[in-house]
Amino acid sequence: MKTKQINMAYHLLEGKRGIIFGALNNLSIAWKVAERCVEEGAKIALSNTEMALRMGELDELAKKIDAPVIAADATNYEDLENVFTQAQEQLGGKIDFVLHSIGMSPNVRKRRTYDDLDYNWLNKTLDISAISFHKMLQAAKKIDAIAEYGSVVALTYIASHRTFFGYNDMADAKSLLESIARSFGYIYGREKHVRINTISQSPTETTAGKGIKDIDNMMDFADKMSPLGNATAGECADYCVTLFSDLTRKVTMQTLFHDGGFSNMGMSLRAMNQYSKDLAPYEDENGKIIYG
Ligand SMILES: NC(=O)c1ccc[n+]([C@@H]2O[C@H](COP(=O)([O-])OP(=O)(O)OC[C@H]3O[C@@H](n4cnc5c(N)ncnc54)[C@H](O)[C@@H]3O)[C@@H](O)[C@H]2O)c1
Repeated sequence: MKTKQINMAYHLLEGKRGIIFGALNNLSIAWKVAERCVEEGAKIALSNTEMALRMGELDELAKKIDAPVIAADATNYEDLENVFTQAQEQLGGKIDFVLHSIGMSPNVRKRRTYDDLDYNWLNKTLDISAISFHKMLQAAKKIDAIAEYGSVVALTYIASHRTFFGYNDMADAKSLLESIARSFGYIYGREKHVRINTISQSPTETTAGKGIKDIDNMMDFADKMSPLGNATAGECADYCVTLFSDLTRKVTMQTLFHDGGFSNMGMSLRAMNQYSKDLAPYEDENGKIIYG
C-alpha cells in the first residue's frame, strides 16, 4: 500500500544535538532518521563500524547534512565512550538524543536454523544487536553525556513478543534489547530524566531486512494484515523525530509499535482474500479437482 510521506519541517529539534548509530546506505532506517532530524533543525553526528565507513556511502550522507562521522564498533565499550566524547566536542555540548539502529545475526546470515544455532554466533548476535545498547547507555551515563530529558531510541521488531518464522536468534536479541530499554530506562529516568524507548517497526526493505528468510512474503503478509499498511523507513523517521522532541517528555521504558496496526490484528479482509485465493479448488495433472 502506498502512503503519502509528510515532508514538512516543524522545527521540533531546533537547537538539539543527536547521535545516529547505524546508517549504512540510503535504504537504512538510520539514514532517513538522520535526514529528518537535520530537517527539523538538529545538529547530528553519525557513527558506524570502520567496515561500514569503508563502503563509502555514509560519506555522501555526512556531506549532505554536514555531520561529523565517528567510527565505532558498538560491541566495544571504549569505542562507544569515544563517540560520546567526540560528539559532544564536535557538536558543542551535551547530547539530546541518540538512535541505536544496529542489528546483525551471523546465524541468520549463514542460514543456521534456530534448532541448530552456532553458540559463538548467538553470542555475537546478542552482543551486536542488544548488549551494545546497554554499553551505549552505560558509556553515556558514566561520562554524563546526555542532557536532562534527553531521549534514546532503539529499533526493534515484533518477533520479540511473538514467533515469526525465519527471524531466528534475532527474536531473542530483540527481547533483550526491549528489556534493557526498561531496566536502564528506570535508572536513567530516575537520575537524569533521560527517556529510553524502543520502536517496533514494520518489516522494511533494507540491507539488514533482506537477510531475513522470505522477507518479501513477510512484508506482503504484514502489509495485508495492517489496516494502515506497512510503515516505511521514512515514516519511522517521522516517529523518531516526535520521540526526540520535547513533545514526548513523559514517554519512557516503552516498546512503541509503529506498524500500521499489525500488532493488534488477528485476521484482516485483505489477508483473508489472499488466503482464499490460495485455497480455491484447482485441477491436478490428472484432471482431479483438489480442494484447498
Ligand atoms: N528492516 C526491517 O525490516 C526492520 C524491522 C524492524 C526493526 N529493524 C531494526 O532496525 C535497525 C536498523 O536496521 P536496518 O533495517 O535499517 O538495516 P541496515 O542494514 O541498514 O542497518 C543495520 C546497521 O547495523 C550496523 N552494525 C552492524 N554491526 C555493527 C557493530 N558491531 N557496530 C556498529 N554498527 C553495526 C550496520 O553497519 C548497519 O549500519 C536494526 O536494529 C533492525 O533490527 C529493522
